[in-house]
Amino acid sequence: MSRLGNLDQWFTDKTAIVTGGAGGMGRSIALAFSAAGARVVVADFNADGGQETVSLVREQGGEAVFARTDVSKSDDVAAMVQSAVSNFGGLNFAVNAAAIEFETVNLADLPDEDFDRMIAVNLRSIFLCMKHEINAMLPDGGAIVNIASTNSYRPQPHQSAYTASKFGVLGITKSAAIDYAPLGVRINAICPGAIETPMLLGAIKARGRDKQEVAGRLSLIGRFGQPDEIASAALWLCSEASSFTIGHALAVDGGYLAR
Ligand SMILES: NC(=O)c1ccc[n+]([C@@H]2O[C@H](COP(=O)([O-])OP(=O)(O)OC[C@H]3O[C@@H](n4cnc5c(N)ncnc54)[C@H](O)[C@@H]3O)[C@@H](O)[C@H]2O)c1
Repeated sequence: MSRLGNLDQWFTDKTAIVTGGAGGMGRSIALAFSAAGARVVVADFNADGGQETVSLVREQGGEAVFARTDVSKSDDVAAMVQSAVSNFGGLNFAVNAAAIEFETVNLADLPDEDFDRMIAVNLRSIFLCMKHEINAMLPDGGAIVNIASTNSYRPQPHQSAYTASKFGVLGITKSAAIDYAPLGVRINAICPGAIETPMLLGAIKARGRDKQEVAGRLSLIGRFGQPDEIASAALWLCSEASSFTIGHALAVDGGYLAR
């Protein structure tokens, strides 16, 4: 549920795609768009989780469909966008949140194929998604939010491929924003800090860290962020409340980058 209150004026009868919608932030973002009045295409590799998100949207009275999508594959991404067009008549918003994070070693120990996979899922996907989403949004316009990371500014240890992918997400976001602002598609990024999702909890476990110590180190207020705090930012960036915000990278990080 969004923390922004009544957003129906901007989202009713509009359609949003959310990638990575099977869980974590993506699920929260899908539910927030739906609560604000939008129809949602929930896209993910994980069909069980994606269908569960669709059920949750329907339980709260919203409309959603699931599109099984590997965001690193062009044909899948084209079909995902087509699903918005054929089910709901077009596309107004997209939040590209799907990504992977699994590194625990220094760069010289990282297998080539791990680097390639990370770049394909985390960065190539943003290219593919924006390409098809923009084509579906034009000529009426729309808004896109790409999920980057605080790693896009301040890398964590043992994350060379993930960090490279997230620097890339910011670069391609800004570049696309410049090209498409004149055509009415506003493109921005969110840089989440440590948000309590399966990805973060998995990374903490894989590194054998203590949750409280990590929460203290990665925010100024001693806690993890919650997925709905990212959803609020995504809704704001897609709403007309942010109509003059273009090519921006919004840190939602409990103040981590301020330190
Ligand atoms: N959780 C954090 O602390 C944190 C911090 C900074 C940035 N991020 C970013 O936020 C976004 C959401 O992350 P999250 O924490 O919700 O992660 P998550 O792992 O909980 O969710 C990611 C979702 O992406 C899906 N996915 C993975 N590979 C896919 C593929 N090839 N095609 C389609 N779907 C795929 C997964 O099935 C999953 O549902 C990601 O871009 C992540 O890099 C997360």
